[in-house]
Amino acid sequence: MSSSEIITAKNLTKVYGKTIAVSGISFSINRGECYGFLGPNGAGKTTTMKMIHCFSPMTAGKLTVTEMDVRREQRKIKAIMGVVPQEENLDPDLKVLKNLIVYARYFDIPVKTAEERAIELLNFLQLKDKMNSKIGELSGGMKRRLLIARSLINNPKILILDEPTTGLDPQARHLIWQRLRLLKKNGITMILTTHYMEEASQLCDRVAIIDKGKILTEGEPKKLVADNIGTEVVEIRLEDENQEAILEQLNEFNFTYERAGDTLYLFSNNGKELLHSIVDVKHSQLLHRPATMEDLFLKLTGRGLRE
Ligand SMILES: Nc1ncnc2c1ncn2[C@@H]1O[C@H](COP(=O)(O)OP(=O)(O)O)[C@@H](O)[C@H]1O
Ligand SMILES: [Mg+2]
Repeated sequence: MSSSEIITAKNLTKVYGKTIAVSGISFSINRGECYGFLGPNGAGKTTTMKMIHCFSPMTAGKLTVTEMDVRREQRKIKAIMGVVPQEENLDPDLKVLKNLIVYARYFDIPVKTAEERAIELLNFLQLKDKMNSKIGELSGGMKRRLLIARSLINNPKILILDEPTTGLDPQARHLIWQRLRLLKKNGITMILTTHYMEEASQLCDRVAIIDKGKILTEGEPKKLVADNIGTEVVEIRLEDENQEAILEQLNEFNFTYERAGDTLYLFSNNGKELLHSIVDVKHSQLLHRPATMEDLFLKLTGRGLRE
C-alpha cells in the first residue's frame, strides 16, 4: 500500500441472503482525492459506502481505512469520518442547531466546542437563520445541507456522501457542489455516490462505474470518456429504417455508433468530418456535441430501466 492511499479495498464482498450486493470489488482512494461511485439503482453503491463507514459488516475481502481494518477498528475509523447518508435521518424532535449539538456527543466533543462548531458549520452551509427551526420546516435542499453540516461536526478527514444532491433543484445542487469543492480544497478526502453524471464530472478526480456489484471501469472522467467513446458525439434523430442509409454514407470513417429508438448516436474524434458527409438529413434532426460521462455510462450499463 502506498502512503498516498487512505482507503484500500481488495475483493470486497457483501452478500444479503441470496443477493450479492457487492461482488469482489477492489479499489483504492488517495488522500485528498474526490472519488465517485457511479451506478444505476441497485448497483451496490450504498452497500459499499456502509462497509467503508463501518455501518454494515463486510462478508468477505479486505478493507482498510488509514491502514486500519474495518473489522477491528470501527471506533477509530468512525472518529475520522463524516457521513451523509442517502436517507435523511435528522432528529425531527430537535431543532436545527440542537441536531448538530446532540450528534456531537457521539464524538465526545465538549458542549461549548460543539456549539461553536455547529454555528460555524450552519454558516458555511447557509443555514444560520434556520438555527432554531424545526426539521419539518426545512426544504429538501436545507435538510441535505444540514446533513452535510452534521457530517462535518467532528472535523473528519474523510467525508462520505451517498447521493448528496438527489432530488434537489439546480440552485440547491450547485450550492452543495460549491461547498464540497471548498472542503476538497481544504484537503478533505471525499467519497461520493451519484447517478448524476454532471455531478461526477464537476467534483470527482476519479470515478468507478459500478453495476450489479462489480466495477466496470475506473479512472479520470475526461480520460474515461475519451478512451471509451471518443471526444465528440453526433446525434441523429431519424426513423429506424433510414438509420441504415446514414451508416452506409459514413462507412469510410472511423467511428462507433449506437442505435436507441429514434436516435442514432455516432461517437468519434471528428464529428465535423461525419457531419459533412451526411446528406438528406434536416439540420433540426442533427446535434453535434462533446462526448460526456453520460454517454459512457449508458454504453457500459445499458439503456434498460432500473427501478
Ligand atoms: N439491507 C438489505 N437487505 C437485503 N438486500 C439489500 C439490503 N440493502 C441492499 N440490498 C440489495 O443489495 C443491492 C445493492 O443495493 P444498494 O447498495 O442499496 O445499491 P445502490 O445504492 O447502488 O442503489 C440491491 O439489490 C439491494 O436490493
Ligand atoms: Mg444507494
